[in-house]
Amino acid sequence: MVRGEQTHRRSADAVCSIDVDDLPEGVIVADARGRVVAVNRAACRLTGVDDDVVGKHFPDVLPFRDDDGRDWWKWLDAYGGLRIRSRQPECSLYLPGGHELLVAARFVRRPARGGDVVRVVVTLRDAAARARLERSRADLVSTVAHELRSPLTSVKGFTATLLAKWDRFTDDQKRVMLETVNADADRVTRLITELLDVSRIESGRLQIHRQVVDVPARARKIIEGRVAAGEPEERFRLQVDGELPEMWLDQDKIDQILGNLLENAVRHGRGTVTIVVEPVEWGVAVSVRDQGEGVAPELASRVFRQFWRGNGRRRGGTGLGLFIVKGLVEAHGGTISVQRAPGGGAEFRFTMPAGTPDFG
Ligand SMILES: Nc1ncnc2c1ncn2[C@@H]1O[C@H](COP(=O)(O)OP(=O)(O)OP(=O)(O)O)[C@@H](O)[C@H]1O
Ligand SMILES: [Mg+2]
Repeated sequence: MVRGEQTHRRSADAVCSIDVDDLPEGVIVADARGRVVAVNRAACRLTGVDDDVVGKHFPDVLPFRDDDGRDWWKWLDAYGGLRIRSRQPECSLYLPGGHELLVAARFVRRPARGGDVVRVVVTLRDAAARARLERSRADLVSTVAHELRSPLTSVKGFTATLLAKWDRFTDDQKRVMLETVNADADRVTRLITELLDVSRIESGRLQIHRQVVDVPARARKIIEGRVAAGEPEERFRLQVDGELPEMWLDQDKIDQILGNLLENAVRHGRGTVTIVVEPVEWGVAVSVRDQGEGVAPELASRVFRQFWRGNGRRRGGTGLGLFIVKGLVEAHGGTISVQRAPGGGAEFRFTMPAGTPDFG
């Protein structure tokens, strides 16, 4: 393997030397006449060429073509064109075998501004990672479409039936149908709200509006809400261990986190649900424990993924709850994990730094 060029970068007190062979991306360097002067290990792996390409003309050894079959090196016209041109943005190109690569180029000029191109540095990335991402997007679209279709099918079915045969149903039958339609419309609204949260989390657009939040009081309020909705009061226990620091958090998001974890403990767990709030060195830790089957250790990382639901499928969830909870916790600078609760069952525990008024 030909050694790549050594790159030296000087900092205040150290000289850092990087060998191009250590780079995770493929790098090929051509000189002022288009001859390959360096190729790194990753480039050889991605393109299938050997290090004997050094000294040969770039387009002869790497005949890249674009989507339309055009010769990339020719249209790149590295040594011609505008003298202020310094780079060619990444694009998708193909080698003769049909293998797709993402290729970008940088033109090194001497002098740097407006000079002749003395080197062309080409970077290569495997397009498989991008293809995987696209596939996961396609999966997402089909999952969302499916999740939206089932409640809408029921809304459409019941309303059409009621409109066509209104007089044939008793009031009670009509009520049951309308209640189903109502619940399904709520499901669609909830799903869309969740999807908007997911998209904010994924694009980093989630905003945290901090204020002083009394975490135990919020937990109490969420419990009261569930009791008011008909669940037995003795099902919930709130335990506050020690003195908490002043917490600057986003109250609505804390409610959302607690609401989701409590809902899961009730829906997927069993027995008493205990919320433990305790101080940690730099903030607060909240654990939500139940006495159900718990989450198997090998599934611990999976439960936080989008649309993942174990046996939750039968329980009407969409599998977005914990993904959103994790996103909300992390947006506060916190972390969340799941383990076995002391008395069996699941324990979801999140910790959050106390935050400050101006802490983003
Ligand atoms: N307390 C728990 N005990 C056992 N399993 C749980 C618990 N909480 C979550 N899970 C498992 O993790 C899966 C993912 O949870 P998540 O909250 O993300 O989705 P969901 O509750 O199924 O749907 P959604 O919250 O979107 O309505 C659940 O389907 C369930 O299998
Ligand atoms: Mg849930």
